[in-house]
Amino acid sequence: MSDIINILPDSVANQIAAGEVVDRPASAVKELLENALDAGASKIQLIVKDAGRTLIQVIDNGCGMSDSDARICFERHATSKIHKADDLFAIHTMGFRGEALASIAAIAQVELKSRLHDRELGTQLIIEGSQIKEQSPCACPYGTSIAVKNLFFNIPARRNFLKKDSIELSHIEEIFKRVALINYHTDYSFNSNGRLLYDLRAGNFAQRISQLYGNNYRERLCPVNEQTDIANITGYVSKPEFARKSRGEQYLFVNHRFIKHPALSAAVEKAYADIIPDHYYPTYFIHIEVDPSRIDINIHPTKTEVKFIDEHALFAILRAATKKAIGQFSLSNELQFNPIEEVNYPPAPKGYVPPQPQIHYNPNYNPFKSTQPRHSEPASHPSTPAPDPKWTSFFDLNQSRNTSTPNTPLPTQPELPIPQPDTSAIHPSTDTPSPCIQLMGSHIVSVLPSGLLVIDQQAAHERILFERLFNHRSAPHAQQLLFPVNCQFSPADADIFNEIIPELKQYGFEIGSLGQTTFVVTATPPDTQEGELQSLFDQIIVEYKGAMIQKFTDRSQCLCRSMARQLAVKPGTQLQQSEMQQIVADLFCCQMPGISPSGRKTMVILQPDQLFNQ
Ligand SMILES: Nc1ncnc2c1ncn2[C@@H]1O[C@H](COP(=O)(O)OP(=O)(O)OP(=O)(O)O)[C@@H](O)[C@H]1O
Ligand SMILES: [Mg+2]
Repeated sequence: MSDIINILPDSVANQIAAGEVVDRPASAVKELLENALDAGASKIQLIVKDAGRTLIQVIDNGCGMSDSDARICFERHATSKIHKADDLFAIHTMGFRGEALASIAAIAQVELKSRLHDRELGTQLIIEGSQIKEQSPCACPYGTSIAVKNLFFNIPARRNFLKKDSIELSHIEEIFKRVALINYHTDYSFNSNGRLLYDLRAGNFAQRISQLYGNNYRERLCPVNEQTDIANITGYVSKPEFARKSRGEQYLFVNHRFIKHPALSAAVEKAYADIIPDHYYPTYFIHIEVDPSRIDINIHPTKTEVKFIDEHALFAILRAATKKAIGQFSLSNELQFNPIEEVNYPPAPKGYVPPQPQIHYNPNYNPFKSTQPRHSEPASHPSTPAPDPKWTSFFDLNQSRNTSTPNTPLPTQPELPIPQPDTSAIHPSTDTPSPCIQLMGSHIVSVLPSGLLVIDQQAAHERILFERLFNHRSAPHAQQLLFPVNCQFSPADADIFNEIIPELKQYGFEIGSLGQTTFVVTATPPDTQEGELQSLFDQIIVEYKGAMIQKFTDRSQCLCRSMARQLAVKPGTQLQQSEMQQIVADLFCCQMPGISPSGRKTMVILQPDQLFNQ
């Protein structure tokens, strides 16, 4: 038999490769926008017609190309961005594979105009189905314009496969946002069928978010900022109360590139596990900057998948950083999205020698010896009158600024040091606890120097109990019951109950078995009512079953949440003065005082102007 193998012509090879790189107009848009960024453009225009079917044009004011580069850039494996294999692990550009333009030119009619900054004339080139049709000098602005016409003109199957214009346009819009969001130092415009959809000015990350999604995002987001040896994490995550039923804006970027990474997305979502309701999702815009040698981007031609050498550590850092951001900022008002104005200080008087900065520290400070218990040391059951008189000091701005706190490095453990609530609108107060009143049997009202504090007693108590259970799993104060209580379940529920008994024991229950479906409870944690044990366990089992169906729910978190919900003081329960003060004090010792484990707001602070400008 004679030889049957031959080498495919470049045009065919390019068409095959194009199948992976360009599957719809939006992918061509992505490649062209990324090339413009790599060319150092400070201004990029995107023009599309008929959702990219008829025309996709990207015009930039970047470095431009010489006459011969303009020809070579359409060859396969033509790139100026890497030179050798080692460069693959030091990538600082969006592109590096040298295949995007070759792929696009294989399946469209392309017109390129490009001019180097120091040349008077540029070059114009027309290429169609990988064949150069014409190249000639032309007068054009410096930078590059690439117009991609009649995408898939030579692959009718692909063309027919495209969805209707509105869908293709929304894909393009999404790609535009992914690129523009994180490359916020660049001006962008986006024009579709003659209509200007976006006109974005260079600014910072937060400004870009509000340019793309509207100013109301200011009040929805908390800033994330964590610098570690493994990665620097910056960006914004939504406050828990703005979580939504669908996954909306969830953006992860690595080194200025949008990526999809289910594990890292899960890390962010896990940070919300005990504070937003099930099946609700946070919004986030997170930028992870890592050493390019610690990642591999060359996994798929679209470069949206990334492998990290430090994936596990990154997971913990990201989760912890998100948690910390929520804890610190979820009570704050709007983010300040405007750039900080430069301050022009008056010149110093002649001969003035600035004093050395003083560092004040407390030599007796011992981080392991707490004078003020943070979680559960003071019993927080409403019936235990041991209020911490210093709860209002959580609002003491001066105190938090002047006291030297150790600069704790970010642990690789998910749990971070307890963040203080953001208190920017609140003034210092005294050491004596403010008196409280109970409103309609369900809310606690107290006075702060700057306004009225209104607390939802049930949500607050739920938060307190949840954190106490979760953080102190070995319960030291099991109460022996005078008369043991029997509880009975269906066979299926009894199996589940058996499964969770070891954990329940950690929280202070003592439970024995009396046959297959009956159990005897001989001791309970302090907050439990004997008479409600059966309904408490029934409810825990129901919630446990539901929560376990979800992928990311932590088993003990789920149990603690359920128990806290059952044990929390209910609306209608009359509270003593000391009990109310105790709830307030304990709430402000929580890691996340502003939100209950089931996602309800625990408190609001009403300032006088809010009260009178209704
Ligand atoms: N807008 C532009 N301005 C200046 N040079 C450009 C522009 N677009 C492309 N080039 C040049 O053409 C080359 C080929 O571009 P192409 O997009 O095909 O490959 P790449 O960007 O190097 O890698 P990738 O295939 O991963 O995108 C680039 O390396 C760059 O030198
Ligand atoms: Mg490219």
